[in-house]
Amino acid sequence: MADKNPFPGENNTGHIWDDNIRELANPIPRWWMLSWWASCAWVVIYVVIYPSFPIGDKAPPGLLGWTQIEEFKEGMAEVEAIRAKYEDQIKGMTAEQILGDAGLSDYTVASVKVLFGDNCAACHGSGGQGAPDFPVIADDDWLYGGGVDKIEESITKGRKGMMPAHGSKLSVEQIDTLANYVVGLSEGKEDPAGKALFMANACFACHGMTATGNQAMGAVNLTDSVWRFTPGGVESAKHTITHGVNFPTDPETREAIMPSFADKLSANEIKKLAVYVYKLGQQ
Ligand code: HEC
Ligand code: HEC
Repeated sequence: MADKNPFPGENNTGHIWDDNIRELANPIPRWWMLSWWASCAWVVIYVVIYPSFPIGDKAPPGLLGWTQIEEFKEGMAEVEAIRAKYEDQIKGMTAEQILGDAGLSDYTVASVKVLFGDNCAACHGSGGQGAPDFPVIADDDWLYGGGVDKIEESITKGRKGMMPAHGSKLSVEQIDTLANYVVGLSEGKEDPAGKALFMANACFACHGMTATGNQAMGAVNLTDSVWRFTPGGVESAKHTITHGVNFPTDPETREAIMPSFADKLSANEIKKLAVYVYKLGQQ
């Protein structure tokens, strides 16, 4: 090789391109080699000290015993310790008392949102704004009462409003008159013929003499412009009067079932949700 080297005495590898581009065999700079060995050593040290690669289905903890899950658990324990202080206080208080304590109610609202999202939002919307045929619980219009104790009762026991179907008892005209009567009430009109039917058919027994509702049985206020069932208005009222609400023998009846959470959530969780929902109505 050496005798064929056109650049005799030069420290090249003998690889030459385009007549004069040569690959030289110079040693790598010392500083570069030192950093290279240092980084190799660092890899070994790191692997030994920290958990680095799985063996089978286990992750060896490393010399320091440090693991991410341990760090996570410590972080969670810290949060739990801060929460425990409040949770213990809440345990001994009624929802009413929590509302009276600004710090505790702030804590309650902040800590219960996830629970609301997991358990309630599917039906009532993520901010309690309701969904078609599921009631709004973020306003100040209540079927069963907006006191925090009533709200707590709604969540604990569940609710199931009942209204009989009137399709087989009343004629189409009578139902039409009644529907127009209740929609008229919400617009400030009074129709004597409608009123007579309202009284004759005992609608007043649940909805009240003035049709303003009865929260003891969840019978809605028919005189305001908030409609429980979509889309509201005359056709919607006709459907409700004809088929009723949760009326077992009518397949077209309105379904209105609020499940009971007594077995799914703890008493503290229900109490906190009641405070949260109550506060939604206050905004
Ligand atoms: C499966 C659907 C569904 C879920 C889940 C649900 N609700 Fe309800 N909720 C309803 C229905 C339907 C009503 C109305 C019942 C009626 O009309 O008689 C209702 C009524 C209520 C009421 C009474 C409203 C009033 O005007 O008096 C409150 C309060 C309430 N829900 C809170 C909650 C909370 C808090 C959760 C979560 C823990 C929740 N609901 C989960 C369907 C649901
Ligand atoms: C046994 C009690 C009961 C009787 C009797 C009754 N209702 Fe109802 N009605 C209810 C309840 C409870 C609801 C609401 C159900 C719910 O939201 O869970 C309701 C809902 C309605 C609605 C729907 C309102 C809306 O906002 O969408 C209309 C309309 C209505 N009733 C009209 C009548 C008329 C007219 C009569 C008489 C023919 C009548 N009701 C008789 C209990 C009754």
